[in-house]
Amino acid sequence: MERTFVLVKPGAVARGLVGEILARFERKGFRIRAMKYLQMERSLAEEHYSEHKEKDFFGDLVSSITSGPVAAFVLEGPEAISVARKMMGITNPMAADPGTIRGDYGLDIEANIVHGSDGPESAEREIALYFSEDDIV
Ligand code: RTP
Ligand code: MG
Repeated sequence: MERTFVLVKPGAVARGLVGEILARFERKGFRIRAMKYLQMERSLAEEHYSEHKEKDFFGDLVSSITSGPVAAFVLEGPEAISVARKMMGITNPMAADPGTIRGDYGLDIEANIVHGSDGPESAEREIALYFSEDDIV
């Protein structure tokens, strides 16, 4: 079994899509190990996306992810990281396949609905950024 970190971004939260998105992962068979609704501080956003700090979209990315509350989850299942990424679709929602979360719900690359860890190290790092050991059930 593998764990991944998934976060529903502010635009999707504002549109009332948390339940629909979580339902897709639940129906797929993932187990929820932790969940949290929060307003990200700028410092948390900068830490979360630190791999992108040199990119010209970094400022917009941090503003976007802190623009409202988010819903964060630890999901567990076989090959959870790659399966969740596949369900999310590619980064640009305009190019993401229909049937994926980004392909079905998004049109904006900043407000691209959902974040998911891209590998085992980022999953471990991101889970620890948002949750303590005691939060994982
Ligand atoms: P994420 O980290 O949010 O799950 O997305 P990802 O792995 O599919 O894409 P990544 O390359 O890590 O980019 C992180 C987020 O930055 C925004 N972005 N904007 N304006 C742009 O060209 C651009 N490129 C990326 C997206 O919101 C992306 O999810
Ligand atoms: Mg990424």
